Amino acid sequence: MASFATFTRLKDKGLAALRDGDFAVAKPYLVQAAECMIELSEENKDPQLKADQEQYARELIEMAKDCDRRAASGGERGARRDRAHDGKGDDDGADAGDWIVREKPNVRFSDIAGLDEVKAEIQLKMLYPFQHPELAQKYAIDVGGGMLLYGPPGTGKTMFAKAVACEIEATMFVLSPAQIMSKWVGEAEQNVRKLFEAAKAEPKAVIFFDEVEALVPSRRGSQDSPVMQRVVPQILQELEGFDRKAGRALLFMGATNEPWSLDSAMMRPGRLDTKVYIPLPDAPARLKLFEIYLGKRPIDDDVDFAELAQITNGYSGADIKAICARSATRPFLESVSGQTPRSIHMADLQAVIADTPPSVRAADVLKFDEWARETGG
Ligand SMILES: Nc1ncnc2c1ncn2[C@@H]1O[C@H](COP(=O)(O)OP(=O)(O)O)[C@@H](O)[C@H]1O
Ligand SMILES: [Mg+2]
Repeated sequence: MASFATFTRLKDKGLAALRDGDFAVAKPYLVQAAECMIELSEENKDPQLKADQEQYARELIEMAKDCDRRAASGGERGARRDRAHDGKGDDDGADAGDWIVREKPNVRFSDIAGLDEVKAEIQLKMLYPFQHPELAQKYAIDVGGGMLLYGPPGTGKTMFAKAVACEIEATMFVLSPAQIMSKWVGEAEQNVRKLFEAAKAEPKAVIFFDEVEALVPSRRGSQDSPVMQRVVPQILQELEGFDRKAGRALLFMGATNEPWSLDSAMMRPGRLDTKVYIPLPDAPARLKLFEIYLGKRPIDDDVDFAELAQITNGYSGADIKAICARSATRPFLESVSGQTPRSIHMADLQAVIADTPPSVRAADVLKFDEWARETGG
């Protein structure tokens, strides 16, 4: 029979081990705490409390899963630190690398199919002012700022944000809800502050809010986790407080599949104020996508790229990438089973396409146009 006392004991042990970097110890405690919380929620009659408890259990499970990832990535360095138990302690940021996701992406604009207008717009607003700061100064062009990439899933928004960081040779800091939930428990506000400080210390930085609608949802309420309730105002405050005149090159980018679920405060001037629609690829872009993702594979002369582009209207970039991968598995498996290796035929691609519906529904695409019209984006 689960009790709150048991739950608290398990959770505290799990969190303490997590703080000490003992992921192997933390994991079973977190899992048991989650199980205990689920039992408690089943006994609960109040639907709101029940939902809160289920949410809490999910967060604990996420943390437990994260223990595996961190242990696997060599995170278990015995990085035990003394610190005040309430998390407001003595962390001087020296080991900030433990939790700040700092990337030097290696994706170029030329790796992205289509979206030429979007690329040009980003070049004007984001790249050229960074690449030619003296000219930007001469013409009083603002350097940096915020941009919201919105559009259906799998259209390359995350890829785009990485390419921007790569093109301007900036360090990218990624902030995603999953990461905040799993790693920042008890210290979320301090970590947001430290992340912004680390970004400001770089000569050029991009702070990227992936799935920003989950990070800063429009309707916040009691169903939010306590972590999120504290993090959101902190992020808004940091964005607000950032001094653009200081000659630093800091860019904020957000990506979302659900712009209508995003708190409009996030799109005010000084925040993610430039909205950029990343649509499904058009026919020339789809052709380019097939060229990119079949390019590294042996293909037969009968593969007709124009035809492939024609029959994949409505498919996303991620869909086409997956189609190319799946069509390669057919000849691959044949050759593994001893047949003479052959190249990928048009028939392989056609069969895979016929078997794979587009991941985005047409009705959902319309929602983006509607939202853009309503918000003047
Ligand atoms: N326009 C594109 N050009 C090249 N690859 C793409 C494009 N769109 C999507 N992809 C491929 O699909 C993958 C998933 O895209 P992603 O950036 O995660 O989409 P989103 O963030 O919009 O959901 C990318 O990593 C990339 O390999
Ligand atoms: Mg994405």
